[in-house]
Amino acid sequence: MESDMMPKRVTVVEVGPRDGLQNEKGVISTEAKIAFINMLSAAGFSVLEATSFVSPKAIPQLADATEVMAGITRRQGTRYAVLVPNAKGMERALAAHVDEVAVFTGASETFVQHNIRTSIAGSIENFRPVVSMAREAGVRVRGYISTAFGCPYEGAVAPAAVAGVARELVALGVDEISIGDTIGVATPNQVGDVVGALREATSLDRLAMHFHDTRGTALANVLAALELGIATFDSSSGGLGGCPYAPGASGNLATEDLLYLLHGMGIETGVDLDAVVAASRYLAGVRGLAPASRYYAAATATA
Ligand code: HMG
Ligand code: MG
Repeated sequence: MESDMMPKRVTVVEVGPRDGLQNEKGVISTEAKIAFINMLSAAGFSVLEATSFVSPKAIPQLADATEVMAGITRRQGTRYAVLVPNAKGMERALAAHVDEVAVFTGASETFVQHNIRTSIAGSIENFRPVVSMAREAGVRVRGYISTAFGCPYEGAVAPAAVAGVARELVALGVDEISIGDTIGVATPNQVGDVVGALREATSLDRLAMHFHDTRGTALANVLAALELGIATFDSSSGGLGGCPYAPGASGNLATEDLLYLLHGMGIETGVDLDAVVAASRYLAGVRGLAPASRYYAAATATA
């Protein structure tokens, strides 16, 4: 695999406790969430998305965000990040002493309206106080752009639309932008088109890719992004997190599968794959469900 742009080291942003659990139907206890996060911390992630300070009516599963943040054991070298949609969420997040916050919007109006009950422009306005509060507190800010490769309501999304939202986030002052394939429809050529459009908006080292494996294309998309020089990828341990728009389908790219690919290619992550499997095994016991990760299935199979 030859590419001048290929990174030697990649940052894997573990989003399972947030993006995975936000879709979970059964109640997961606060204690189990804390134990899961502590096991993931032990795996050595430099960034771990722990929970969301969103409306508890929107995401009841993460209503215990304050208790979770207070209960975890923080590992030196790990930044604990949370989702925040507005100033109210930011006040709660700062009170919980988070290291990083993520604001989240999208590239298609209908999705954003469903997700955060405002327009794309309205979301940017809601983020303004969040970013200034973060600056004051010295907290890093990530901005998510969902539906960057397709929208469950509007279908195809133009790369120029993604770049337009990225420019708004850059103007706001976010440190990093994560590009989400929310419904898992992207193919590698599309990754090239979207990253190409984004080059006009920001530098590659500020971009992260957030792929879903709904149609089995996530790792192919990771490879395409690596060859373009992208060095930050989001994933969820065990592949936790279904896609609400594709019942029964897998959602987030599994961290184990991503790490296997990266380590096999000689790309360093600083994350211990066996320790991620152990965390997934723990949560599988809590949920009573096997993880979607292919690597997990192979690693835990008994002859
Ligand atoms: P709204 O109903 O328009 O908000 O929701 P509101 O300001 O009118 O407030 C309604 C109620 O919620 C009020 O309480 C507020 O106080 C409360 P009431 O007076 O009725 O008792 N409230 C809050 N409480 C706690 N924390 C807060 C907060 N904000 C309001 N932060 C809102 C708008 C954005 C708040 C709501 O729609 C929301 O929280 N949405 C978040 C939904 C969510 O988390 N979705 C999943 C995100 S994942 C994603 O987008 C994709 C991503 O994973 C990448 C990918 O996979 O593609 C990032
Ligand atoms: Mg996701």
